[in-house]
Amino acid sequence: MGGQSVLRTLDDYSGSTIGRKPIIGDFSWITSSTPLSSINLNWCERDLPERLRTKHVHRLHPYLGKYVPQLVEIFLRKFEPKTVCDPFCGSGTTLVEANSLGVASIGCDISSFNCLLTKVKTDKYDVQKLEFEIKDILSKVAAEINRGDIKKEFVEKESTQYLKDWFAPKALFQLLLYRSFIKNYEYGDILRIILSRAARSARLTTHFDLDFPKEPQTRPYFCHKHHRICRPTDDALIFLSRYSMDTVKRIKEFSKLRTNAPVTIICDDSRSVDFPPFDAVVTSPPYVGLIDYHEQHRYAYELLGLPQRRDLEIGAASNGNSKKARDAYIKGIGEVFANVRRRISDDGVVVIVVHDKHNLFSDMANKIGFRTEDVLTRSVNRRTGRRAEDFFEQVLIWRAT
Ligand SMILES: C[S@@+](CC[C@H](N)C(=O)[O-])C[C@H]1O[C@@H](n2cnc3c(N)ncnc32)[C@H](O)[C@@H]1O
Repeated sequence: MGGQSVLRTLDDYSGSTIGRKPIIGDFSWITSSTPLSSINLNWCERDLPERLRTKHVHRLHPYLGKYVPQLVEIFLRKFEPKTVCDPFCGSGTTLVEANSLGVASIGCDISSFNCLLTKVKTDKYDVQKLEFEIKDILSKVAAEINRGDIKKEFVEKESTQYLKDWFAPKALFQLLLYRSFIKNYEYGDILRIILSRAARSARLTTHFDLDFPKEPQTRPYFCHKHHRICRPTDDALIFLSRYSMDTVKRIKEFSKLRTNAPVTIICDDSRSVDFPPFDAVVTSPPYVGLIDYHEQHRYAYELLGLPQRRDLEIGAASNGNSKKARDAYIKGIGEVFANVRRRISDDGVVVIVVHDKHNLFSDMANKIGFRTEDVLTRSVNRRTGRRAEDFFEQVLIWRAT
């Protein structure tokens, strides 16, 4: 096995940037001849600030479980594939990065919301028309809201019990109104993502637990994020407006980088789906017992009426991480990579970013037609909110045999 990456910050780094000042977040100097062991993957906030990790469309909608786009960029520059596949494409990080580098990409995910988000990020837009539509729907919804009271019959007819429980009546009316206008626009999918993002912020939750709130917060509460008493919101229009402007800005930014490299998104189970051919994989798989990927966007499923296939999620948190759950996880992940092996080219490379704390990946490769070429360890330095913690994750590099 090759060299492990060592802990250094960009300031310590000389190697391939000789003669050039290292620019924070710039990995364009990496080529196929750059040794993996010379690439620093251990960034701290100063090296790779949040605004770069969440640049342009990468922050179009919150998604818990994303990986850092710069990691994908590094491995695409290093391995120079023609077509990269991500069998767990999630919010589309791999596909966005591949497209901006002119690499064709294929993404698959079991969650229809994640596929919608990936599609919206990678779609090509007439940016002027998109801006017009985003502003037009907003002004029509605002005008309707200004006309008068909440239409109770409309809300009753259009909502589910979940929506009634998790939104104040005014916020729910505004969201449902916005939803009812979407059909009049060409770029409906992006409007759905704006609606979902606004709904996430307008839920009856505390400010410090937006990822997995357990029950609706209907009263004022002590807020651990703001260190004061906060009250749950009853307004969604403010978020619809804020995220509309933010979306226009982000799509405009990405449209300057977007290439015409083809993007294919498949909403299916990666254990059995028939992938088109590819020569590389860059992915971060779900981990055992960590996240329920459908549940984290439950509000979106309810509001957008998207199909759900929760029972096919590999490693779902709701199944825990008992021995039985871990065995089922190893089997599921093994089946995905065996399926990947069927379509990857014979010299294809697989890059897997995983925090393998139970050592579940250690002898998987050999059993399914790959060999481990390298294992890099990188320190993940998180400094956000109440989830602040440091840990190490692995980057496994497998070759088809
Ligand atoms: C760690 S996340 C990937 C995140 C992605 N790298 C990103 O940056 O957004 C793992 C993804 O695997 C998906 N997944 C779980 N089971 C799956 C299955 N059987 N087939 C396809 N995707 C699955 C989940 O829905 C989730 O989106």
